[in-house]
Amino acid sequence: MPLSDTCEQSYLYVINYSKEERALCHLEMKSLFDQEPTKKYLYSHRNIDPSRSPFFKLRISVLSTASSFEELVHIVSEKKITCDNFKFARFKIEDGKLDYATWLYSVTELGKVIQAEVDMKNPTIQFGITIVDDVWIFGIYEKNESPWVQHNLKPFTNSNSLETRAARAIVNIAVGQQVQASLVDPCCGIGTVVLEALSLAIHVTGYELSWIIANQAKQNVSYFGYDPCIVHETMHRITEQYDVAILDLPYGLFSHVTHTQQKAIIASSRRITKKLVIITCVDMDEDITSAGFTIVDRCTVTKRAFVRYVRVCR
Ligand SMILES: C[S@@+](CC[C@H](N)C(=O)[O-])C[C@H]1O[C@@H](n2cnc3c(N)ncnc32)[C@H](O)[C@@H]1O
Repeated sequence: MPLSDTCEQSYLYVINYSKEERALCHLEMKSLFDQEPTKKYLYSHRNIDPSRSPFFKLRISVLSTASSFEELVHIVSEKKITCDNFKFARFKIEDGKLDYATWLYSVTELGKVIQAEVDMKNPTIQFGITIVDDVWIFGIYEKNESPWVQHNLKPFTNSNSLETRAARAIVNIAVGQQVQASLVDPCCGIGTVVLEALSLAIHVTGYELSWIIANQAKQNVSYFGYDPCIVHETMHRITEQYDVAILDLPYGLFSHVTHTQQKAIIASSRRITKKLVIITCVDMDEDITSAGFTIVDRCTVTKRAFVRYVRVCR
């Protein structure tokens, strides 16, 4: 049901994910909203940019709700909505009951009580309507612009890099509502996580041991016009304290890394951060807790036969 508190703006976020991404999406929604979706949509009073999560499809800023279409038309007409011009966007929602013919009739009738011209090509605002749990919802429609897609065109990529979508979700899991938090990626590789954090205006620093890879990360960051934030240095030498760290643990695909070295990296992470999101290729819960972390949340991400273990630690 839409949120009943009429004083505060409420939003309907429509989400989507593949079967493999479901757990990651749920962990991200929990971090952003303090609630897990039970369907592929959720309501919240929280104003979160519709392009922030790779799992958002769109957002409706709810303007009116009603138990029937006639009531909705009445409420919208009472609001005397004015704008330069507008159009209605059509979208699908899980369990949605608005077939195309009903939608077309509804937007035609609603359009008559909005005091502006329709402009299908260059509307200054888009509206959306839907029916959820027998409630009619009308509001401002904003689609996810998927800004992370352009990051797939970065000059340097690595086959062991995180997928851009996963990296963005992990940044959101790490910082949640605290977008002012200081973030470090102590083993940043070519900077997949760093780029997502930068595009979300999060203050981030990446450290990378390999000179070649650090150089590639620097070029990836500058390619998109961001200020330099990559340091060629072993993470063991980090002296700053960060609010959050995202550690994609080296697992020795391209360079040898021993279990002892992995444990040392987890131990050094304990020294530099209050909160850690760690990504590993095998279950390393025991090593994580032995380093002094408490695992507070978890999920796995699968890509074909490849499993990644994501752990949120304090
Ligand atoms: C799993 S990769 C990170 C991949 C990265 N998340 C991405 O998507 O591109 C781990 C990286 O850690 C680096 N590394 C290993 N030991 C390190 C250390 N002691 N300090 C900093 N970086 C280290 C490796 O060179 C490797 O590039």
